[in-house]
Parts: sequence; C-alpha cells; structure tokens
Amino acid sequence: MFDPQEFVQEKIEELKTKITGKAIIACSGGVDSTVAAVLVDRAIGDRLLTVYVDTGLMRKGETEDVRRMFDNLNVHYRLVDAKDEFFAALKGQIDPEAKRKVIGEKFIRVFEREAKAFGADHLVQGTIAPDWIESGDGVRDTIKSHHNVGGLPKDMTLKLVEPLWDLYKDEVRAVARFLGVEVSERQPFPGPALAIRVIGEANPESVGVVREACAIVEEELEAASAKGSMVRPWQYFAVLLPVQSVGVQGDRRAYGRTIAIRSVESVDAMTASFSKIPYDVLERISLRLTNEMKANVNRVVYDVTHKPPATIEWE
Ligand code: XMP
Repeated sequence: MFDPQEFVQEKIEELKTKITGKAIIACSGGVDSTVAAVLVDRAIGDRLLTVYVDTGLMRKGETEDVRRMFDNLNVHYRLVDAKDEFFAALKGQIDPEAKRKVIGEKFIRVFEREAKAFGADHLVQGTIAPDWIESGDGVRDTIKSHHNVGGLPKDMTLKLVEPLWDLYKDEVRAVARFLGVEVSERQPFPGPALAIRVIGEANPESVGVVREACAIVEEELEAASAKGSMVRPWQYFAVLLPVQSVGVQGDRRAYGRTIAIRSVESVDAMTASFSKIPYDVLERISLRLTNEMKANVNRVVYDVTHKPPATIEWE
C-alpha cells in the first residue's frame, strides 16, 4: 500500500543529497509538475527556481490561475512569455510526433536560457511512470513521445531529476493531497498542451478555437457533476478536427469546422473507457459550442472509443 507521507519524507532526504547546486523546474501548474516543484522546494528552498512558460498553448485563464497558486504555495517562481517563439516553431508542423518534438525541444531551450541566467545545473521534471512506459522502455513500442521523455535533446547540459518517476497518477494525487497542493483533484493536462488538441497546425487562431471549446466542455461537465447529474469524468476536453462540413445558418449554407468532445474514465491513464455522458449534458455542450462559436463551429461529435485501441488524446 502506497504511503504518501513515507514517500515525501524519503524523497526530500534523497533530493537534499542529490541536488547540491541550483535547480530549475518547468511548472505548468498541473498536478505532476506542481507536486514535483513543491517536493524539491521543501528539500532545497530558494535554490530551486520554478518557471512557468506561457507557450500560448495553455487553457483559458490558466496563466492567472497558476500565478495565484504559486503565490499561495509560496514558491520561488518566474513567468516567461514565450508565445511567439512557440508559434514560430510550430508553423507548418502537422505531424503529431513532429509537433511533440518541436515543443519538447523549445521547452528545453527556453529552460536552458532560464537555467543559465539562474545558474542552475539541474532540471527537475514531473515525469511519472505512464509517461516513460508509453514512450518506449525498450520493451514496448513507442506509442507517443511524451514531451518530458522522448523530446529531450541529446545535447542537453542540465542533469535530470525526476522525483515522481515511479509513481502512477493516483499516487501523485495522494502525494498532492498530503502536501496540500490545491490542484490535487484537477484533471490531467498533457505537456504539449492545446497543440495536440488541434489536429493539424497549431497556430494562434486554431489554438484560440480549441481553447474556447475546451473551456465550454470543462464548464458544462463540471456544472453537471456539481449538480449531481453525473460523476465528474477523469479527463474531458475538446479536439479541433481538420474537417469542414456543410451546415445551415439561418437560411444560408454554412461550411464550418468540427469539434470532437473527448471524455474518459481511467485510473492511471494506461487504459480508459469513454464516459457515458447523459444526452442532455451532451446537448448543452453542443448547443453552446455551435451558438457561442458560430463563426467557427457547425458540427460536434462525441468520441466513443476506449483506450486501447485509441489513446486518450488524439495526437
Ligand atoms: P494518451 O493520449 O497517451 O494520454 O492516452 C495518457 C495521459 O497522458 C496525458 N499526456 C501527456 N502528459 N506529457 C504529459 O505529461 C505528454 O506529452 C502527454 N501526452 C499525453 C494525456 O492527457 C492523458 O492524461
């Protein structure tokens, strides 16, 4: 039986001896990176710099929420605006693996810059077991290059520290609760962020569309769960498809885009089943997407695929 208190005590001791100089961590505000940041912060204090990179790929309101959370957790942090750099690197990239690699590489370059300025020689990452198992451990084939594993450049100069390496998601949440991290019950969000929820090129426009769609899906499923109409799904979001279809708006022919709703139940992300969302909740989401995003969206579909054979994200 996993004991979060024991894990935290042992890890802090281990980190104290392992990190002799200064360290930097990329913290997106998700459960994994935040727990990793707080653990290392408890071990080495201000010798850790927590960096939040605004990649332009984050969810609606996320940057402000993260800033508030860091203030509350009292960690030593810096917010870096790297939106233009990320979009420049993603221009023309449509292959899912290429997008992941570009983002992973950009991340590391931004961090190397920050690390140099701070004088850090260690890079802390919130990698957890499913990330490396699915990125190919020599036994399984590579399914996806999770950016904090497969996308690391070979010439990286920082020493890697990955305190959550052996943990599964439910164990990370237990540690988060133990540490009093307020994001402990938040749904997972992938490293490459909204870029892998746009099928095709991720640019400010397409990311803007999927950001709005994700916000609507989140709001409606959370409202329905709070009302007791359903249990809050494990992970839920929108995907912008590169498919246009014919519709009508008023008495006019429309040719608009398609949003797929993805919502799954899982324990550790290794397998998942699609959520049995009540039809009236799906209807509300569909109505909001097509009313509030009239200019962009005229068709909404629901993904009814389990993992396997599909993965949770579409890329
Ligand atoms: P898939 O799509 O592989 O996702 O079934 C499993 C879980 O991992 C999340 N995910 C990622 N997390 N870096 C991460 O830290 C990544 O590159 C990444 N890709 C997917 C996904 O959202 C799901 O919870």
